[in-house]
Amino acid sequence: MSFLKRISVVGLGFVGLSTAVYLATQGYNVIASSKQQRKVKLIKSGIAPFFEPELEPMLKTVLKNKKLRAVVGRKTAVLNTDATFITVGTPSLSDGSTDLTFVQEVSKEIGEALKLKQSYHLIVVKSTVPPGTTENVVKPILEKHSRKEAGEDFGLAMSPEFLREGSSMYDVANPDRVVIGEFDKRSGDILEELNRKLYKNKVPILRMSLPSAELAKYASNAFLATKISFINQIANICERISGVDVVEIAEAMGLDPRIGPGFLKAGAGWGGSCFPKDAKALVAISRKLGYVSKLIEDVISINFMQARHMVELAEEELGNLEGKKIAILGLSFKPNTDDIREAASLRIIELLLSEGAKVTAFDPVAIGRVKKVLGDRISYANNVYECLENADCCMLVTEWDEFKKLQPSDFIKWMHKPLLIDGRRIYDPMTFSKRLKLRAIGLHRLSEENK
Ligand code: UGA
Repeated sequence: MSFLKRISVVGLGFVGLSTAVYLATQGYNVIASSKQQRKVKLIKSGIAPFFEPELEPMLKTVLKNKKLRAVVGRKTAVLNTDATFITVGTPSLSDGSTDLTFVQEVSKEIGEALKLKQSYHLIVVKSTVPPGTTENVVKPILEKHSRKEAGEDFGLAMSPEFLREGSSMYDVANPDRVVIGEFDKRSGDILEELNRKLYKNKVPILRMSLPSAELAKYASNAFLATKISFINQIANICERISGVDVVEIAEAMGLDPRIGPGFLKAGAGWGGSCFPKDAKALVAISRKLGYVSKLIEDVISINFMQARHMVELAEEELGNLEGKKIAILGLSFKPNTDDIREAASLRIIELLLSEGAKVTAFDPVAIGRVKKVLGDRISYANNVYECLENADCCMLVTEWDEFKKLQPSDFIKWMHKPLLIDGRRIYDPMTFSKRLKLRAIGLHRLSEENK
């Protein structure tokens, strides 16, 4: 069953474009489709519409090799390929539940194209969707508009994506596991074979029902968010005990294989396009089912409290923040991306502004995006030093490599009062606290004689 040679990817966000480019590097003929003309134009000229390390050179190569073609229409994409991956966005509605508009739209368009197609076609949902969506939303729309039957005339599967922004090209080539939810055996077999070839039989492939695959994604993201909120709570306990450091606690915990070291970095809180959206969606999904998932609800509120906690640390040192100049280092929700969706920086900045503080921010790549959201409510610096200049307090919010290189002398030289709040634990407390006032997440305030 090795007919899968041509694959279309519909929806060109992080998941879609990374998947499309990766498949093209592996020799598949890929048609990447987006409704956004501007995006398609950029991709055609070899420019990634967002900052993602390694993506652009690979995109340029697959365009040059003619392995990837970007198109606006869905019809061309479906008619000229053997399988279509749906990777459109599934944003949150105001009540936290999932907006399936794009999934519905694209299912209709794919269905209409399928109607014109003679041969078998496999449709794979990769967007994060609530359990039941593939079977009860996507399938009926596809069948209605194609006048064909799932499992007979076309295949249907759901395979969640676990890649991370900032390392998406690595992740897409090196998954820990592949989850395949299948409507029917044939669809699962084809997708399994594709993945076996891609990952040379080295990656576990789990086959399950469609709703299990759908829920597996929410459960994974919610668990990772839980781990972070958990360690952030431990961090807050650590701060109250002299001589205790959350970094040491996390290391001690992480070496237990039952716990594992990943996602135990305490900090200013989690953000991004996935954890906040998926955690809220899981709460909404379970409420709809008549069950209150108290743990996940708390995980979300603990995350909001962590932003407030960053501001409280500044207040403990400076008192009232009215008129105080606060320098924010790092705006993206994590390093190596310009994505600012639900970034901890934005929550912290809003709180600082509501306290009357004056905020100046610097980020290596995300300033443009923040300007669109915050406009002239804050000032933007062209580099770290400009950001630190005359500041009463500096908050390290995103752990970009260039911030890790800063020395105590950099803060002392430029700031009005050198007070540093390390929201990602990148600075050595002993070295820094000897030279300046340091507060760090998960660390008791160091004694006065250290300063
Ligand atoms: C996350 C998941 O890690 C991916 O597996 C998943 O595919 C993706 O969501 C998605 O659903 O599309 P991503 O949002 O790109 O990936 O970023 P992460 O690396 O998971 O980081 C999320 C947030 O958690 C960031 O704000 C980061 O700063 C924070 N974080 C992470 C911590 O505060 N502590 C940690 O130890 C790890």
